Amino acid sequence: MKKIIIANWKMHKLRKEAVDFVENLSAQKEVDIAIIPSFLALRDLKNAAPKEIAIGSQNMSEHSHGAFTGEISASMLKDVGADFVMLGHSERRKIFLESNDVITKKVERAVVENMPFVLCVGETLDERELGETKEVISVMLDALSALIGSHWDLVTIAYEPVWAIGSGKVATPDIISEVHNYIREKLLEFTPEKGEGIRILYGGSVKSDNIAEILSIDNVDGALVGGASLDPLSFNQLINEVSI
Ligand code: 13P
Repeated sequence: MKKIIIANWKMHKLRKEAVDFVENLSAQKEVDIAIIPSFLALRDLKNAAPKEIAIGSQNMSEHSHGAFTGEISASMLKDVGADFVMLGHSERRKIFLESNDVITKKVERAVVENMPFVLCVGETLDERELGETKEVISVMLDALSALIGSHWDLVTIAYEPVWAIGSGKVATPDIISEVHNYIREKLLEFTPEKGEGIRILYGGSVKSDNIAEILSIDNVDGALVGGASLDPLSFNQLINEVSI
């Protein structure tokens, strides 16, 4: 399966910074690249980026439309050119208190709207130390319960251990391998036909000096990169590591 590197810019970069970044980024044949900017930079980035680079949104309302002040719908995202949406990032879960129930509704909305999505899952340090990692991830993956048939083509999973995000503490290859294998098993339970073809990405302190090792692990089909995706030099370096 072709690997993918996704840059999650979180709450960084104005429109001009986003456009300047992408103008200095060369699309690669060996690896797919996607960028998730702020909502407000989506349209500019979509217009500026080579068409091989997918542009995603960091969140999406579970509602189709209506009186939901401050929310952004799937059709609004499509209207500005978003190719996919990221759902259930741990910062949404932890800081903005998005529950599994809400994230499940967002997954259902993405399916209704035919919007490809990256579902983020991952345990906190406490959960890991209590031996609850698999249970926590299994409950998060239950957000996929309503999916059937060809809808599985919309799905990408990102394993992002909360304790590895922005901390400089990358998960060990053994941890990554164990959890990615577990996620693959769960996907195959959901869909024996499509489970093998669903990408599972790793995220959490991915940098140019660890990306090659991480991507060499079985069932790691790409990476979701925060901090190291903000500087064009370090992001290009990271991509070059994958393309070697
Ligand atoms: P860092 O790469 O900064 O650890 O962030 C990971 C992340 O949250 C990507 O979604």
